[in-house]
Amino acid sequence: MNVLSKAIAVFDSGFGGISVLKKLLNVLPNENYIYLGDNYNIPYGDKSKEEITQLSIKILDFLIKQDCKMAVIACNTITASSYDILKEKYNIPIIEIISNGVEDIIDNTKNNNVSIMATEFTVQSNVYNDKILNYNKKIKITQVACKKLCPMIENDWYSYDDRVDVLEDYIKKIDDNSDTLLLACTHYPFILEDIKSIVNRKKTNIQNIIDPSTKIALSIKKYLIDNNLINTSGGNLKFFTTGNKKVFNDFISRYIKINYELERIVL
Ligand code: DGL
Repeated sequence: MNVLSKAIAVFDSGFGGISVLKKLLNVLPNENYIYLGDNYNIPYGDKSKEEITQLSIKILDFLIKQDCKMAVIACNTITASSYDILKEKYNIPIIEIISNGVEDIIDNTKNNNVSIMATEFTVQSNVYNDKILNYNKKIKITQVACKKLCPMIENDWYSYDDRVDVLEDYIKKIDDNSDTLLLACTHYPFILEDIKSIVNRKKTNIQNIIDPSTKIALSIKKYLIDNNLINTSGGNLKFFTTGNKKVFNDFISRYIKINYELERIVL
């Protein structure tokens, strides 16, 4: 197969990476895509580095067998845990979300005070802290681990009566002086409206709530252009889930408006 027509493989522990895929479909509509959501094993945010690495190796082995030209880690937790290992192990280009989130933060903060909402694993790993301080040691970073959010988003956020209380408990831990809040889990853009309304009600100093999916989509476009890998005649989309096919279909059909195939797999 001509390398340009090979798919861009996007993966996440579940539905979160769909927030990245949606942006990619806007920015690069003529590419072929495959997406893998490991909905059976979610949440990754509560797992160990070893478990996350083992699962992400199974995912990448599977995706590479589908013949893709590059892979996109549309998951902060997998990036924080295993990007360095995956980058060494595979010889296709792998693009990850965290460096894009970090650049978004640096570009947006004016008062050098930022807050980050992420999974337990991402917060514990301190990857955001380390990378941001590498750019600018003066930035004050508050990290909030939001353990309950990802499972609730996977299982239909709007069906939970206590969702606002749960979210408020996390948002009150954000530093009131932060001017920038980064959604450092790809699931959180799906509840952006609720996050915005609580942040506004709380009268914080936050001016920017950042979803880094636009930034990563543009980085991928730049990478493809710089490396002469742009496809102008694709447009196919295939999903793989390790979870329930009907649940997966119900979720993605709300956000993806083009034709797609869907297959259930066991990793
Ligand atoms: N969507 C993933 C992220 O960006 C995490 C979800 C999980 O805990 O599996 O971190």
